[in-house]
Amino acid sequence: MTDVKGMTVAVLGAGTMGRGIAQIFAQSGATVRLFDVVPKALESAQGTIKKLLNRAVEKGKMSADDAAGAVERVQLVKKMDDIGTVPLLIEAATEKPETKIEILKIAEKSLEKGGILASNTSSISITQLAAETAAPDRFIGMHFFNPVPVMKLVEVVRGLQTSDETVAQTLRYAEAVGKTPVKCNDHPGFVSNRVLMPMINEAIFTLQDGVAEAEAIDEIMKLGMAHPMGPLALADLIGLDVCLFILEVLHRDLGEDRYRPCPLLRKMVQAGRLGRKSKHGFYPYE
Ligand code: CAA
Repeated sequence: MTDVKGMTVAVLGAGTMGRGIAQIFAQSGATVRLFDVVPKALESAQGTIKKLLNRAVEKGKMSADDAAGAVERVQLVKKMDDIGTVPLLIEAATEKPETKIEILKIAEKSLEKGGILASNTSSISITQLAAETAAPDRFIGMHFFNPVPVMKLVEVVRGLQTSDETVAQTLRYAEAVGKTPVKCNDHPGFVSNRVLMPMINEAIFTLQDGVAEAEAIDEIMKLGMAHPMGPLALADLIGLDVCLFILEVLHRDLGEDRYRPCPLLRKMVQAGRLGRKSKHGFYPYE
């Protein structure tokens, strides 16, 4: 099995997903160059990682030394030129194709020969992103789930040009950071969001139609279906803007009415109610 101890990886984007990815690599012994254009995002990411690792120490799940070591291994990088040369680069930037392409084109210069460029995109075509890079055979989807330190899955998405070796090495990296990788092919929404988003969308239609209050919809799905959280609370965790974006991709690229985003979801996003990150979604958050 590949060991990431002593290896250096770069993570582009210090938002919810990027900081989680940085944390698990650092916890597994890798040095992480965490890049973001917004200095505040980097500081906030470092704060979150410290807090979560301290909590693990308090719960007796990790030694104080290991936690301090992991925090130290996350190096904050404000300029892409300072990333250095790395064998693995994971992009976790904003879910906008033009932003991702711009970042990937610059970042790939930091890849060592034969290195892998991975995107944590939840819905943008891996084949489309790969085609913009110099080595599409070494481009792959490495889709993590929120909260990254807790969720076991990495959906490993193979683009049309991804090589067998890139897939095999990515599976090894995911296992080395304690995750369970599952392979799938590049298709709108991959497997996870093609199945999850219609359920979330339907829950929002159910709310819009006045069938039940948000709490009741979530309680029914939690208690009746043994989901760890209801679909509306989950949408708040994922971000309503992200849910809308993914549904728009599914609707446009698969061309089926069943993926049409619920008007209430659109309204929530227009109102800036984006879920936990804006402290208000289907529920208020402190
Ligand atoms: N970051 C790190 N750890 C967290 C966390 C976070 N944001 N939230 C909770 N945890 C940890 C807690 O510290 C706790 O750890 P221990 O077991 O070590 O004590 C553990 O998770 C359980 O937390 P809680 O007891 O506080 O709460 P819970 O049992 O209700 O679990 C949950 C919270 C893990 C979020 C659970 O409700 C859950 O699994 N929800 C579903 C999440 C899900 O489906 N995520 C996928 C979203 S889709 C996506 O991300 C991809 C996409 O493309 C849209």
